[in-house]
Amino acid sequence: MTRISRRGFFRTGAAASAGAFLLGKAGLAAPRSKGSVPIIVTDHTNETGKTAVTEAFKILEEGGASLDAVEKGTNIIEVDPEDTSVGYGGLPNEDGIVQLDSSIMDGKTYNAGSVASLENIKTPSSVARLVMEKTDHVMLVGRGALEFARKFGFKEEDLMTSKSREVYLRWLEGKSDRDDWGPPDHLIKPASQGRGSGDGGRGEKYASYRESIEHYHGTTNVLAVDKNGNIAGITSTSGLAFKINGRIGDSPIIGAGLYVDNEVGAAGATGRGEDVIKSCASYFIVMQMRAGRSPQQACEDANQMIIDKYKAIGSDYVPGEKFVAINKAGDYGCSGLKLGGNPKMAVVTADGLKIHEGTLVKP
Ligand code: GLY
Repeated sequence: MTRISRRGFFRTGAAASAGAFLLGKAGLAAPRSKGSVPIIVTDHTNETGKTAVTEAFKILEEGGASLDAVEKGTNIIEVDPEDTSVGYGGLPNEDGIVQLDSSIMDGKTYNAGSVASLENIKTPSSVARLVMEKTDHVMLVGRGALEFARKFGFKEEDLMTSKSREVYLRWLEGKSDRDDWGPPDHLIKPASQGRGSGDGGRGEKYASYRESIEHYHGTTNVLAVDKNGNIAGITSTSGLAFKINGRIGDSPIIGAGLYVDNEVGAAGATGRGEDVIKSCASYFIVMQMRAGRSPQQACEDANQMIIDKYKAIGSDYVPGEKFVAINKAGDYGCSGLKLGGNPKMAVVTADGLKIHEGTLVKP
């Protein structure tokens, strides 16, 4: 029987001196991808992602706000039943419950909102926006987030689709009485060093058959700059498939899964949230851009930082991550670690839709 691994399932700045230190460390050409304003981008390069940014760009073209554009684009991705990593149809936790995380940040007002472990609502990013605009808080979680959404009239729905239910049931079939949650991934010795077999020696549950499952988009980020130069961003996800009930990833954490600075730009993350949280990756990327790095270079810097952190403790662990970023001028970039190929992003400007291929940072 084929089995699905829980953790293996994702496919999924600083001072000028720091920028100089990191320059070239990734060993990549780090191209500067010139864009223009207005601009909207997403990590999602499938048909839904392309539709999302194309539709949302109409708001920007008409002089609308980046905040409205990123919400519109994200909602289109969230309600796609085929996408098993975001919103409706997202894969559930180990108890079969779909728990969604999302954050939004508005550069114009330096305001942010987020929800975590939100159940039964297809568009968590819209709830996050209400947290941002209608409260003095930044983050609501679990039952409180759901009650808040109910007060604003959000409809409660079953977020499982026949596709996500089937994947979950297949994962359940693969569970073993030898399963445990184990230590952090980066502390697991590979099978070659004598700790069992399969996915890092975790035992039966972790003998992955991820190849049989279509799950290559991961979380989503949508970032935009409008005609007035205002920048906004959203990150939205169903999080790590089969996570422990209540596990929260990077996506709802401002500075980790998303960061926006109106003077600089915006960045968002997909991939293994635990690493994005520890590295404060989106904040780091925006600070790198503030220090003069291009969006492309800043994303690579963040990937390199994560590799270096593990190397420093003697681990050659490389998590699956992808970062996307834009700056105030409309330049954009993306980079990743341990993905199936070079990371890509969908970009819409007045020149139309294009798919930008970023760089894979190698350890
Ligand atoms: N990046 C999404 C998560 O780890 O939950």
